Amino acid sequence: MDQLNELAKWRAKEAKHQPSWPDLDKLKDDTDYLRTLPPLVFAGEADKLRREIALASRGESFVLMGGDCAETFAESTADHIREKIRTILQMAVVLTYGASVPVVKIGRMAGQFAKPRSKPTEVRDGVELPSYLGDIVNGFDFTPEARTPDSSRLIQAYQHSAATLNLIRAFTTGGFADLSKVHEWNKGFMQNPAYAKYENLATEIDRAMRFLHAARVSDESLRTVDMYVAHEALLLDYEEALTRIDSRTGNLYNCSAHMLWIGERTRGIDDAHVDMLSRVHNPIGVKLGPTTQSSDVLALIDALNPEGEEGRLTFITRMGAGVIRDRLPSLVEAVKGDGRPVTWVSDPMHGNTITTDEGFKTRRLKDIFDEINGFFAVHSQMGTHPGGIHLELTGDDVTEVLGGSEEVLEETLGERYETLVDPRLNHQQSLEIAFLVAEALQETAL
Ligand code: TRP
Ligand code: MN
Repeated sequence: MDQLNELAKWRAKEAKHQPSWPDLDKLKDDTDYLRTLPPLVFAGEADKLRREIALASRGESFVLMGGDCAETFAESTADHIREKIRTILQMAVVLTYGASVPVVKIGRMAGQFAKPRSKPTEVRDGVELPSYLGDIVNGFDFTPEARTPDSSRLIQAYQHSAATLNLIRAFTTGGFADLSKVHEWNKGFMQNPAYAKYENLATEIDRAMRFLHAARVSDESLRTVDMYVAHEALLLDYEEALTRIDSRTGNLYNCSAHMLWIGERTRGIDDAHVDMLSRVHNPIGVKLGPTTQSSDVLALIDALNPEGEEGRLTFITRMGAGVIRDRLPSLVEAVKGDGRPVTWVSDPMHGNTITTDEGFKTRRLKDIFDEINGFFAVHSQMGTHPGGIHLELTGDDVTEVLGGSEEVLEETLGERYETLVDPRLNHQQSLEIAFLVAEALQETAL
């Protein structure tokens, strides 16, 4: 019970980007109800993920995080979830086989429902309403009813997360992830270079699988994968209600996801977000933007990983293709000097967002490639390990990011622009990134 009192200390700090709930009594009822519901993940799983991320900090594994900018309730369907899992599995196969490195698979899924926004309100045709803050807070429709924050949505978010996680567990352990199915995961036209490249790789893996079969090698690990989930721990009332005491150790774990991250906008050292996550034992990520100072990074290590536990703290850099080569080295230098281990992950999406003349928020695949290459180059210069990659992607054939071998052009962005928040890589662009990263990792190993 003492720990839960400690956990509540975030309330004395400044909590940025929280909704203004119209009915605080209802918020209390809803969060009290959430506290009675079962945990979504278990402490032992979070510990296992922490050990796997620790390997990535040493270059002995590679973290692949991917999923929507914002999940929505309407798109939490079996088809959308399966396609996202398929995409992550295909990327993981490309990386595992192409770079001979174990891949830690983390879905930005089953809880990625809350969004910080640059402005608290949105004005359209002279009408001002609260901004859309994600399905866990309000609705996207531009009406007063939809945009008013409603804390019943916290419970709906929990239910969608539970159903999504259940499907993830079923798909990754129930046969879908079997390595003898790599061919079946492919889709689309083989004229597409990314799919053709994948097809060749799948043929090689099939041969290897037939060889293993003939050699009577059989292991459960060929048929299943461990897939973890993570989201931005933004809405502190929700995160607190799902934080529980582990009966084995008496420690606090946030049981809404295996891993949580703190966004660039809420990572201030005195912010409530840092306070809350300093008290739980999950692996934690922190996003670092282009203005991050070495002193920020050192203060974050002091707050979030004072003991220097391996795998506990991941820095997810989102600098922008134009500046990563200038800004990252001093941060890496500071961390090296400190000596406590961190895992470095690249988010090549958020520093590279642009708006087209027509008003579409988009990103160029070539900038995303460029930031990834810069991330690898800096770590190679500094003698540190590029530990992973964090992407906004969907398994569907949307047209939200510009470029790719089946090129999405400015003129065609409108065809299937479906995101409510940030533009996502489509299935084929995601595979292209996996091949690029596999090549970069092969070079690192040389
Ligand atoms: N279990 C292993 C792993 O997670 C091998 C594996 C099985 C795998 N199915 C997979 C790897 C699908 C990638 C994709 O690495
Ligand atoms: Mn985003």
